Amino acid sequence: MAPKPKSQYVCQSCGSAHAKWVGRCPACNEWNQVVEEAVAQEDISETSLGRLREEVKLFRSDQKNMPRNKSNQEWEDLLLKDETQNISKPSTERISTGIGELDRVLGGGLVRDSFVLLGGDPGIGKSTLLLQMATGLAAKQSGKIKILYCSGEESIEQIRSRAKRLATLDTIAPGQISVAAETRLERVFSNVKELKPDVLIIDSLQTFSCGFLESAPGSVSQVREVTARLMTLAKSAGIAVWIVGHVTKEGGIAGPKTVEHMVDTVLYFEGEPSSSYRLLRTVKNRFGSTRELGVFEMAGEGLQEVLNPSSLFLSDRDEPVAGTAVAASLEGARPLLIELQALVAPSALAMPRRTAVGMETARLSVLTAIIDRHMRLSLAEKDLFFNVAGGLKLSEPAADLAAAAAIFSSASGKPTPKNMAFIGELALTGEVRAVSQLDARIEECEKLGFKSIVVPQANLKAMKNGPKREFRAKLIPIARVAEIATFSDIPIDMTFTPL
Ligand code: TYD
Ligand code: MG
Repeated sequence: MAPKPKSQYVCQSCGSAHAKWVGRCPACNEWNQVVEEAVAQEDISETSLGRLREEVKLFRSDQKNMPRNKSNQEWEDLLLKDETQNISKPSTERISTGIGELDRVLGGGLVRDSFVLLGGDPGIGKSTLLLQMATGLAAKQSGKIKILYCSGEESIEQIRSRAKRLATLDTIAPGQISVAAETRLERVFSNVKELKPDVLIIDSLQTFSCGFLESAPGSVSQVREVTARLMTLAKSAGIAVWIVGHVTKEGGIAGPKTVEHMVDTVLYFEGEPSSSYRLLRTVKNRFGSTRELGVFEMAGEGLQEVLNPSSLFLSDRDEPVAGTAVAASLEGARPLLIELQALVAPSALAMPRRTAVGMETARLSVLTAIIDRHMRLSLAEKDLFFNVAGGLKLSEPAADLAAAAAIFSSASGKPTPKNMAFIGELALTGEVRAVSQLDARIEECEKLGFKSIVVPQANLKAMKNGPKREFRAKLIPIARVAEIATFSDIPIDMTFTPL
């Protein structure tokens, strides 16, 4: 038999292995991603799986309340009806983490045997969030939940002093939260066997390694192996496993895509470095909707929940200024009012600048062309700067109309009327298209005291046939983008009487 190769060349982007070094990975076409990694002298897949099964079997026999299969059969009937079979309930039971915004993002709370990946830029607050989740869980489910927090990045003392700053620890019983400064997965497993936690937190995936693999922590083989073993732990032992993942320059979670495939839920924690607001988004969720959004503020005492996020992204000036408009946008399933700002200025360049923060530049160019053509407002020799207040990113086209209103307002020097919000998507033909969930958006505007809301006429037509409700704000139907021009002629102190 030919001797086994001592090293292989692994693409750090997609994880595929090659017999020799190549500049460009043939599997994913990325350049300069292939590095040499030592091959473990054991057969990786078989040994690790075999070991893992053994570990899990051991663990299972320790766990008294775990489902046990008496006849050693590897399959079970899909329809579990027989209560006497000692089969645990399907894992739809939700455990409140004590943090409302986190529960919302998870789809109603923590699921017992879930496997969750939390990604985010360095210093954004991932460790803080998970430590707060640990103390929140322990306080809320006093005595019923045990948590093991394993950190490969901080010492036990550092974690302890941070925990003291974040929460009042009096309500937590001794032994409920255990902390370990660890980077070896084998030791984490033996800690798990000893402590039998309900929740295991691994901070972070890139610092942990399996001993029998020779490559460095953070390499693709390690990341893949560590994730695979933790997944089996979560699924077979009924432990909720949370892993923190680093984020690459491009904004994706570092490591092969397989990591994101293996986990049940992928959460991203994001925010502008200059702002103290943090958004927690669901990117993938096997237990709930991916349209949820949690909003936090990083304060001196850790992360605080923001219960009325719309008020964050609006500025509270008394008199309206030209170049701003308020959009009622949806972030996931959540309506959010956002202030959009535009500045149109004469350009000295042959190619005028189009700069957008919080919106794709391509979308801004499309909007500019629509305004140019359908409002007969020449922007060809003007620089255009566009900004979304509060460091938010616009993710849906229903904010188009507000963006157009802000651009028109800056170009014409006329402020949009006070207390007016805009909802609508723009078509290339200059028509205003209907948006989804208009009612939720209107409700959010009313909650924040907006008196008039510009809405797509197409939506109002559909609403006439639907259930009637009283609106506190005046709804102004709009069919074409050019009609925006008429709104800025409305006196700015004008107040509307309800419909
Ligand atoms: P951390 O959770 O360590 O970030 P990550 O794990 O994502 O790298 O958060 C670190 C930042 O949060 C740090 O720059 C300081 C800030 N912070 C506060 O402002 N208040 C606090 O109470 C805590 C614990 C951190
Ligand atoms: Mg950290």
